[in-house]
Amino acid sequence: MAYPTPLNASPHLLEFLKTLHSQSLTQEANVDWYSLPEQCSNAFDDIMRDKFIALDQDKCELVYHILRSINAQAVVEAGTSFGVSTIYLALAVAENAKRDASGSVKGKVIATEKEPSKASEAQKNWERAGKEIDGIIDLRIGDLRETLTKDLGVVDFLLLDIWTPLALPALKLVQPYLRPGAVIMADNTVKAASKYEELFAYVDAPGSSFHRVTLPYEGGLDMIVYQ
Ligand SMILES: C[S@@+](CC[C@H](N)C(=O)[O-])C[C@H]1O[C@@H](n2cnc3c(N)ncnc32)[C@H](O)[C@@H]1O
Repeated sequence: MAYPTPLNASPHLLEFLKTLHSQSLTQEANVDWYSLPEQCSNAFDDIMRDKFIALDQDKCELVYHILRSINAQAVVEAGTSFGVSTIYLALAVAENAKRDASGSVKGKVIATEKEPSKASEAQKNWERAGKEIDGIIDLRIGDLRETLTKDLGVVDFLLLDIWTPLALPALKLVQPYLRPGAVIMADNTVKAASKYEELFAYVDAPGSSFHRVTLPYEGGLDMIVYQ
């Protein structure tokens, strides 16, 4: 059954996103998930270097919807890969900026990817995506533990679509910049629950200023609100 999309984008871009998701899923179907090396090891990164591992389309659409709802203007993405989810983030902040009659709000997405070859593919995809996301993305190539240490500004939304050992370090780096009501989304939180234990303990600790719910998307998708 066809379901409605929250996206306000050109037919060209909607079709392009569909193609990218399809390429990602085809790759994932050929990955032997049960015999992968440990995340963040060189062997793991070698296998993942040519893989999208894009956030699922329905999750990307939800993220877009939330960004529109909270009127996000500044977003950080931890884990950009070939830049599929980044397109949704950029589209949403660009749409939000149009609400500002003065034209002074532009919207920005800080994207970060440690593999230069993946970052280069992401840039090509954003060029193909076209002018709807032009000038929105600030791509920081390198380890997020360095790229997210400065010049973040006030952050409305953080997407944690990153190898699990890096989720908590990324959150801690961005936390000082989160505005009250900011939203953090983390992927695969049911399927990879044991690997998220440190993040959960930090977020769920009494007095942490975070509130977390797990949404029933494939593998689990956590939505965390910063109070
Ligand atoms: C799940 S993929 C991101 C997918 C992307 N959000 C999308 O939907 O298209 C995670 C990415 O994080 C990158 N990554 C891993 N360690 C990193 C680090 N220390 N700093 C920045 N990026 C890193 C990986 O190379 C990989 O491309």
